[in-house]
Amino acid sequence: MMGRRAFAAVLLVLAVSGCGGDGEDDIAAAPDRGSVGIAMPTTKSERWIADGDNLARQFTLLGYRPDVQYADDDVKAQVSQLEAMVARGDKALVIAAIDGTALKGVLGRAAAAKIPVIAYDRLIRDSADLSYYATFDNFKVGVLQGTAILDGLKGKGPFNVELFAGSADDNNATFFFNGAMSVLRPQIDSGRLVVRSGETGFAKVATLRWDGAVAKQRMARLLAADYRSARVDAVLSPYDGLSRGILEALGAAGYGGAKKLPVITGQDAELDSVKLIAAGKQTETVYKDTRELAKVTVQMTNSLLTGGRPEVNDTEQYNNGVKVIPTFLLQPVNVDKSNYRRVLVDSGYYTAAEITA
Ligand code: GAL
Repeated sequence: MMGRRAFAAVLLVLAVSGCGGDGEDDIAAAPDRGSVGIAMPTTKSERWIADGDNLARQFTLLGYRPDVQYADDDVKAQVSQLEAMVARGDKALVIAAIDGTALKGVLGRAAAAKIPVIAYDRLIRDSADLSYYATFDNFKVGVLQGTAILDGLKGKGPFNVELFAGSADDNNATFFFNGAMSVLRPQIDSGRLVVRSGETGFAKVATLRWDGAVAKQRMARLLAADYRSARVDAVLSPYDGLSRGILEALGAAGYGGAKKLPVITGQDAELDSVKLIAAGKQTETVYKDTRELAKVTVQMTNSLLTGGRPEVNDTEQYNNGVKVIPTFLLQPVNVDKSNYRRVLVDSGYYTAAEITA
């Protein structure tokens, strides 16, 4: 018997391919529009697995053959995967870069073969051969995180805060940090927020490859060095995978037991972190509906490949060092204990059972 999801997929294929008949013959009759290369950074984070799946599903519905490759956060491996896609004659490349500054060469080869490139979620820098960019409002992600910290710190202060940023080779990391600091900086300057470690510059607080173990180590070092006789009241963390590492270091130092856990932010609404939010351990995450991002990206690619003009809504913010890349920005959403059911469960992103499991 056909499940509800499979049935919905069939209906979509029929709608897309304009077929009104019934049965499997119609699915086979969907046009073959060629293969599309989809380069994703890593399977270590669940969001990228979902991104790859969503992109593949939606390209398939339009008659493309998706080729999804993950590079295990290895920059050279990603470049080789892209080279193979160009050599195979993929019709377009959709890329979530590991190192946004390392793809100039391979993008040049794609351009020589007239293969359009779309940057997915992360901007590709220093290349004129990038056509479009689809992402979320990355500065706003940071603003939401900074605001969650201020909302969580009630009273006059001063409050002790420590800052973490993402991977310095990911253009998004700077946007997140700058967005958060646009909210936090005035309060650091006024003395209501105190960074006892003194580590406030992006380069100092960045976390290579968004590695939770690296963030855990840094938090442990800061707690040992600067918080023997003081309490950390808030931690700016740009991503759930880092937040979980930071929470482990905090737990090992007695937070969540004898000491109250600090306000701590995150991003991506990863299931393990949503569970921590439900349990009152992580304060917030920034939810980005990756299903929507995949949809926008597939529409962009399809319209490029069929002679149309992709829809964009930002032609100012994303200068990649060579030119401003026309961008479609989606809106991120703040999620905390008060609204995670409404935002994540009611929308079907997770089931209630998954969160309480
Ligand atoms: C960023 C992305 C975030 C998060 C992070 C770590 O580029 O925008 O949503 O996933 O990478 O994977």
